[in-house]
Amino acid sequence: MTEPVKDVKGLKVLLLFDMPYAVKRDHDYTAEFADPEGCYTENDVDQALRANGCEVRRLGLFDDVRPLLEEVAEFKPDVIFNLVETFNDTTHFDKNIAAFIELLGVPYTGASSASLFLCNDKGLCKKILRFHRCRTPRFHTYYRNHKVWLPKTLKLPCVVKPLTEEASRGISQASIVDDEKSFLERVQMIHERMELDAIAEEYIEGRELYVSIVGDKALRFLPPREMTFGELAVDEPRIATYKAKWDDAYRAKWGIKNHFADKLDEALVERINETCKRAYRALNIRAYARFDLRVTSGGLVYIIEPNVNPCIAKDDELAQSAEKVGIDYPALIRMLLRQALRRKA
Ligand SMILES: Nc1ncnc2c1ncn2[C@@H]1O[C@H](COP(=O)(O)OP(=O)(O)O)[C@@H](O)[C@H]1O
Ligand SMILES: [Mg+2]
Repeated sequence: MTEPVKDVKGLKVLLLFDMPYAVKRDHDYTAEFADPEGCYTENDVDQALRANGCEVRRLGLFDDVRPLLEEVAEFKPDVIFNLVETFNDTTHFDKNIAAFIELLGVPYTGASSASLFLCNDKGLCKKILRFHRCRTPRFHTYYRNHKVWLPKTLKLPCVVKPLTEEASRGISQASIVDDEKSFLERVQMIHERMELDAIAEEYIEGRELYVSIVGDKALRFLPPREMTFGELAVDEPRIATYKAKWDDAYRAKWGIKNHFADKLDEALVERINETCKRAYRALNIRAYARFDLRVTSGGLVYIIEPNVNPCIAKDDELAQSAEKVGIDYPALIRMLLRQALRRKA
């Protein structure tokens, strides 16, 4: 066993993130980091790293990995804090960046390329989850340029969404379909307008819970968060659409809120944690993750998706849940650094 890393003070940390445009390697990120719509997660992590006494260099990637090679050769970081979610505007290239860092042999925080690969595809990870008897909605995947039909094995209503997207991009109230015509049209919309593959899942009615976990070997379950849908008509599907997540005016209008889940009995919390633990292991997840769940009125726990490398901004779900159990933000960031160093490259 390797010794736990006691102190992160003085560590050389390369803070790596994605940018929506190309910048020079020595770019001054002050404006981007100060922008509440811009690199706010990066800014939070940057400050926490500095509060921990780390020496930080920032590097934003857009469509060229060479700056990363150069930076690693010149700065020789002890660890890369990996916040890359996209590359050249493509969501699923996050796994390629992690794989590239693996080739460089530098320890890095967060998910491995293997688990990013497994979890980014909402169909592939559901196949593995079903094999491991984790409850997840029945589904069918639709690749572009292949026949599209409504299989008899799927019960309507369904949620039709992009196979490999994040942050509810492509998810609106129209994603819930309850007849064949709208089902086929929605798949077609994702194929043609979004130019993405699609997945259709049976719609699970229930509470929307978010469970965050931190850990490699020993797992720390953090208190569940919940999204509630306020005044949104009860006969409307109450789901976390793009607007429900990101449009503050829409959230205020309907009273949509994210908060700690109340009234979860102990037995249910145990079932939730057991399900998430099995999924965490089955999908080779490490470091930290957030599971999006639906829990039915009968207490069935469905995994909608695992999020590996979920947002760790200070005011997002995972950090809020950590704070609640006394892990303040710099401590959380320190935990992630230590994990990376303990694993080595
Ligand atoms: N099968 C489903 N049943 C019920 N709600 C769903 C289902 N699939 C997605 N949703 C709703 O849509 C939201 C976004 O779906 P998700 O698969 O998590 O996509 P993203 O990766 O964009 O977050 C979920 O949080 C949930 O509210
Ligand atoms: Mg989600």
